[in-house]
This record gives sequence, structure tokens and C-alpha cells, in this order.
Amino acid sequence: MGEFSAQWLSLREPVDHAARNVQVREAMLADLRKRHGVQLSGLRVLDLGCGSGSNLRALAPLLGEAQHWTLVDYDRALLAAARQALTQWADQVMSEQTDSMRMMRGGIQIDVDFRVADLSGELDSLLSLPVDLVSASALFDLVSSRWVDGFCDVLRAPLYAVLSFDGQMQWEPRHKLDQAVTKAFCAHQVTDKGFGAALGPTSGQYLRNALEQRGFTVTIDKSPWEIEDLPSVFHDMLIDGVAKAVAEIGHLGLTDIDAWLASRRDARRCVIGHDDLYAASP
Ligand SMILES: C[S@@+](CC[C@H](N)C(=O)[O-])C[C@H]1O[C@@H](n2cnc3c(N)ncnc32)[C@H](O)[C@@H]1O
Repeated sequence: MGEFSAQWLSLREPVDHAARNVQVREAMLADLRKRHGVQLSGLRVLDLGCGSGSNLRALAPLLGEAQHWTLVDYDRALLAAARQALTQWADQVMSEQTDSMRMMRGGIQIDVDFRVADLSGELDSLLSLPVDLVSASALFDLVSSRWVDGFCDVLRAPLYAVLSFDGQMQWEPRHKLDQAVTKAFCAHQVTDKGFGAALGPTSGQYLRNALEQRGFTVTIDKSPWEIEDLPSVFHDMLIDGVAKAVAEIGHLGLTDIDAWLASRRDARRCVIGHDDLYAASP
């Protein structure tokens, strides 16, 4: 169903984890400790658009004992990949059922429910689950302003939304088509990804405003990918994806796209911008 392959998500996982903004993460942990005590035990987390479970693997080691996670995605293959990746990541899998598992990792017990749901239509029932934190990684740039408004209207828990693309792309050395490619890619980013016209690069700021208007206290800061060990399979897949999107939007001819792609394969460094956000509920 989805356009995100498990291979792509697994390649971006270490880059995502390194990019996460430390101040935003500390703001989240400080607020959660205020609400639940320093041990942060027994937290319930709802992860939206979980893919293969990267967000859990980044966050769970920071939270306390006996966590409960609900991982939501509409892509059954990615939920299966999440189960497989978590099985490998766990020190021990204690029990497994069709839609759930219990594991131990680093002395922490983690219960996981896997839930197939389409966020474009099943949001109210998901957000009515009793949770202490709603999380999402690389999701909010896909959604529309209307969806964010509806989401913020029903959101009652704190929100940790990381790695929303902010429109910045830079390569070293530069190429004369970098700017035109970035502009075309950003135009593709705002096409419909299943939620109406996507917010794309403006999602971080839009989400911030929508949450502040509803009384949330928001911390937002940058979490760029800084990709230096080039060439890499990850970078190859990244620029192939950019070129595909640019070809689809049709602002540049194929000759230009091919020339850009060939030159970017030899780039030394690449920076792709993102926003991380934590919103403390009122
Ligand atoms: C860029 S991936 C991020 C995956 C994961 N959070 C990560 O950081 O690796 C976006 C995820 O959102 C999911 N997604 C997109 N549209 C969705 C929808 N309408 N309902 C549920 N999940 C959706 C995709 O299947 C994919 O797993």
C-alpha cells in the first residue's frame, strides 16, 4: 500500500537517530518527568505512522520500566517489518500474539500492540486511547493543514513529532541545478499524500501554530541529516528518490535531472533539513 520500503526505512534509521534534536528531546523528557515522576515508569505511547518501528527504538531506551506502545500504520508489510526488527532488537521476546508482543531490552519491559489503521480516517478512535505521549517520526510533512487542525482539536496528550522535512537540501560541492531541484522537490512535497494537499516543508511551523493556538507549550528546533560518508547506499536511494519526485512534478527536463543525478553521486556531503517538535499539553 505505502510508498516507503522497509529497506529505505532501515537505511535512514541510524541517520534519523543521529539527527534528532537534543534540546527538543530534553524538553520532552523534562515535561514527562514533571507529569509522571523521574522514573517515567509505565508510560503509554501511541506512535503514528510507525513504519518499521524506528521511533520506538530511538525513544524506548530514554523512558522508564514497563512501557506500553501502540504502533500504528496502514501498511501491513511495514508492521510485519516492525515486528521482525523489534524481535532482532530485543534482548528477549517474552511472548507474542497476532497483534502484540512483549519484550525485554536493556532491563526495560516493553509491550507493543501493532495496529493497522488509516490515519486519514481513523484518527478520533486512535486519539481516544488513554496514552501519555503521542509520537510520530517523519510523518507530519505528509499531512494537510486540514488534517493537522482536526488532529490538534482532538489531541489531549503531549506530542513528540520529529524529522519533518523543512525544505532545506544542500550538497557539497554545489551543482548549478541544486536550487532548481530543491524547488521542484518541494513542489512535489506539497502534493496529496493521502491526507489532502500536503504541508511538506511548512509542516513544522504549521503544527507549532496550530498547537499553540490550542494552549500547548511548544519547543521546536532543527534536526538536519548530515550525510558525510559518501558514497553510500542511503545517499544513492535519497538522490534517486529526489530525482523521481522531480521528474514526476515535471519542472525540469530529463536531461537536466540525469546530469544533476550523475553529479550528486559524487557529492562529498549532503545536508537535509528537518524540524523536531515537542508540545506539552495544557
Ligand atoms: C516516512 S515514513 C516514516 C516511518 C517511521 N515513522 C520512521 O521514522 O521510520 C511514513 C510512514 O507513515 C505511514 N503512513 C503514511 N500515510 C499513512 C496513513 N494514511 N495512515 C497510516 N500510516 C500512514 C507510512 O506507511 C510510513 O510508514
